[in-house]
Amino acid sequence: MNSRKFLALTLVATGLSAITLPALPPQDRFTLKAPNGVAFAEFRGYETWQDVAVSDTEGSVKAILGNPAMMKAYRAGIPANGKSFPEGAAIVKIEWAKKKSPVSPYFVEVPETLKSVSFIEKDSKRFPDTSGWGYAQFLYDAKAGTFKPFGTDASFNKNVCYSCHTKVKDKDYIFTEYLPR
Ligand code: HEC
Repeated sequence: MNSRKFLALTLVATGLSAITLPALPPQDRFTLKAPNGVAFAEFRGYETWQDVAVSDTEGSVKAILGNPAMMKAYRAGIPANGKSFPEGAAIVKIEWAKKKSPVSPYFVEVPETLKSVSFIEKDSKRFPDTSGWGYAQFLYDAKAGTFKPFGTDASFNKNVCYSCHTKVKDKDYIFTEYLPR
């Protein structure tokens, strides 16, 4: 039994159950790393990056956001103009489980709980095996309020993430397009 549970039981047993336990310190997600060594901390500030686009699947909605270098490149016409995204460009995909809005008068699906955050960053010296892109994904446990890295071993990000992103090799390995707004 951990000390927190023990304290809770002791409080109940002694009739002090009305006393609330101090909250556990929140997880520091910025200490986490993907199996290839790409760290959550490398994407600090991603919550306020600009939106490139949104996407949805049967069960999820996603927001795709780019850092300033990525957005500047998109606005300059990359990758449609045949050029590659610059060093330091980074992009995040934030995925939520979706639900039918319980308050809207018309049918609309809205985010329900956070599922994962996925990152890609350009650093050609560091990621020569994956055409310059480093990949990382962190899964969110909504009940616990914690993230954990997705993937099994050092080759995971290359064999899984990059391998699928090679389908859009001619778009510098990035699926999401930036449309007029
Ligand atoms: C089976 C194919 C597949 C795999 C595997 C995959 N992706 Fe993607 N990824 C996509 C597609 C398709 C999109 C665009 C559609 C969307 O919004 O989900 C995308 C979009 C993204 C984006 C937004 C930028 C972009 O390229 O559009 C990020 C960031 C991303 N993926 C990261 C990852 C990471 C990290 C992994 C590995 C853990 C991964 N992906 C594995 C297919 C894949």
